Amino acid sequence: MRYRIVSTSERPDLAVTTATWRWSGFFRERGVPVEEVIRYERDHLAAGSPMLRTLVLLADGEPVGMVSLLSNDLEGRPDLGPWLGDLFVEARFRGRGHALRLIAGLEASARADGVERLWLYTEDAAGLYRKAGWSEAETAVSGGKPVRVLYRDLKREGS
Ligand SMILES: CC(C)(COP(=O)(O)OP(=O)(O)OC[C@H]1O[C@@H](n2cnc3c(N)ncnc32)[C@H](O)[C@@H]1OP(=O)(O)O)[C@@H](O)C(=O)NCCC(=O)NCCS
Repeated sequence: MRYRIVSTSERPDLAVTTATWRWSGFFRERGVPVEEVIRYERDHLAAGSPMLRTLVLLADGEPVGMVSLLSNDLEGRPDLGPWLGDLFVEARFRGRGHALRLIAGLEASARADGVERLWLYTEDAAGLYRKAGWSEAETAVSGGKPVRVLYRDLKREGS
């Protein structure tokens, strides 16, 4: 299997796929229409958006999952960031290490930008991120639910 990670700014044709994943993983349950997420995804391909970057993992050329780099994510914590968010692997491709590949890909991309610490929050997937080397910082509340906040220090290559 050949893996490649691309951004939706270099592959805007993938934006409808990532919007549909983002909707089904994170917005459907909140009653947001898919068309709204597709429109948002297209609008935020431009530089300067709070959705800094969306990466897609291609397995033999087929899109299997995504993850985003966000400047803000957790309500009430604008002091933290940037954030890893909206990690999603298409259901039929789960359980093959793709989430770990996406996390590593986002870390490498952020490190190349000079980011020293990444943040994320999760309701129930902290174990996945701990496997990827992340550390737990604190608990918080998002949408009225308790979440865990984790961080990952990004050392520069060779340091
Ligand atoms: C969570 C999700 C991204 C995992 O994708 P995946 O490609 O199946 O994950 P991987 O195969 O890379 O898993 C790597 C390891 O993490 C573990 N893991 C995966 N999901 C986990 C979870 N939700 N909680 C704890 N551990 C998890 C796996 O068991 C595996 O462990 P192993 O190496 O000991 O077998 C996928 O199930 C998904 O898209 N879910 C819906 C959206 C979602 O919940 N995203 C996370 C939001 S914080």
